[in-house]
Amino acid sequence: MNYEQAAEKLARFGQEHVLKYYEELTEQQKEALLTQIEGTDFSVLSHIENKNDSSIRGKITPLSSMQLPQIREKEAEFRAIGLEAIKRGKVGAVLLAGGMGTRLGSDDPKGMYNIGITRKVYIFQRLIENLLTVVKEAGSYIPLYVMTSDKNHEATVKFLKENDYFGYKEDMITFFMQDMAPACDYEGKVYLEEKWKISTSPNGNGGWYSSMHKWGVAQKAIEDGVEWMNVFAVDNVLQRIADPCFVGAVIAGQCVSGAKVVKKCAPDEKIGVICLEDGRPSIVEYYELTEELMNARDQNGDPAYYFGVILNYLFKVEDLEKIREKRLPLHVVEKKIPCLDSEGKKVKPESPNGYKFEQLVLDMIHELDSCLSFEVEREKEFAPVKNKTGIDSVESARALCEKNGILL
Ligand code: UTP
Repeated sequence: MNYEQAAEKLARFGQEHVLKYYEELTEQQKEALLTQIEGTDFSVLSHIENKNDSSIRGKITPLSSMQLPQIREKEAEFRAIGLEAIKRGKVGAVLLAGGMGTRLGSDDPKGMYNIGITRKVYIFQRLIENLLTVVKEAGSYIPLYVMTSDKNHEATVKFLKENDYFGYKEDMITFFMQDMAPACDYEGKVYLEEKWKISTSPNGNGGWYSSMHKWGVAQKAIEDGVEWMNVFAVDNVLQRIADPCFVGAVIAGQCVSGAKVVKKCAPDEKIGVICLEDGRPSIVEYYELTEELMNARDQNGDPAYYFGVILNYLFKVEDLEKIREKRLPLHVVEKKIPCLDSEGKKVKPESPNGYKFEQLVLDMIHELDSCLSFEVEREKEFAPVKNKTGIDSVESARALCEKNGILL
């Protein structure tokens, strides 16, 4: 793309300021900027005008969950089915590690965070250790796919290699990168992070399967016989990954997806709840949960929207293929965006200064015909590290690890 074409594209989206410093740039920087302008989808910016649209929902009704007593009764049967699928190479694990982890406040990828006290215990290490318990039980490795972003790819790959993949087999790990989206101020003008670079942010965890496909990784997985993918967040240091019981329950239930859920600890806990929306499985984010839904009761008198998702889902690959081209809702999220100020000086804001644009994996559930809501024990499987202190923090995760006998 040449200068005139770039200027014309920017003018169409009201983003002419992107070329403000063009004359000051080296030839290489000019080229980098023109290439970025060519590859950027500025149409996402128009979403800030109707940023509350994603909260316009269909009719919400309860979805019953498979609860712990029922799971315990059938555990042996489920485990056998799950283990068989794992042994036959039908289950892959997808680590969503493309996020920025801004709340944790470290510049490194979140998985590199050390939660240890007397020894080093990295978040990546905890996840791989958990996965290795299943590898041991099944007697076969589970293909592990790691999604990174432009912001943390190199550091992630280097760190895992340097640490010998924490004992995982190198050739069972595949990396792929997610896409980025421009980040803008409250008026919808994209920020610059350098005079030759538009500020971008990872485009949310909802694009994981289409990115996997874009990189040829999904096609290879299918060729290798992977039929199920267990997608999980980087920050829950206790979660069981490729859990045979969960996999077996979803297969036995003939569902095309499954979501691990926990009982909420308070009606207003900041966690998305599983439900039906216009008769299809769906997840309502905590900020969309009305007072009425929060206090609703089901026919047994129990809270109707009581089970929260922990970002650990199982998807049938065949059905993922069917929805690959679908555009998921775009969420407009307020965020601290490092940028240049009006004098061209770099700033790292202390509080949110604009918007990023994200698609979310939870919206994929609504596109699918069925989802098994599968309860797990909160104290044993839910220790997210979102913040340094307080709720869902390094502190709370450490306490839960210790409760579960993990030496820190
Ligand atoms: P979070 O919603 O906690 O976002 O991600 P985050 O970026 O890690 O952290 P904050 O909000 O900036 O503090 C939930 C999961 O989704 C992944 C994260 O890596 C984490 O595993 N994720 C999030 C992606 O892979 N890509 C994204 O664009 C966003």
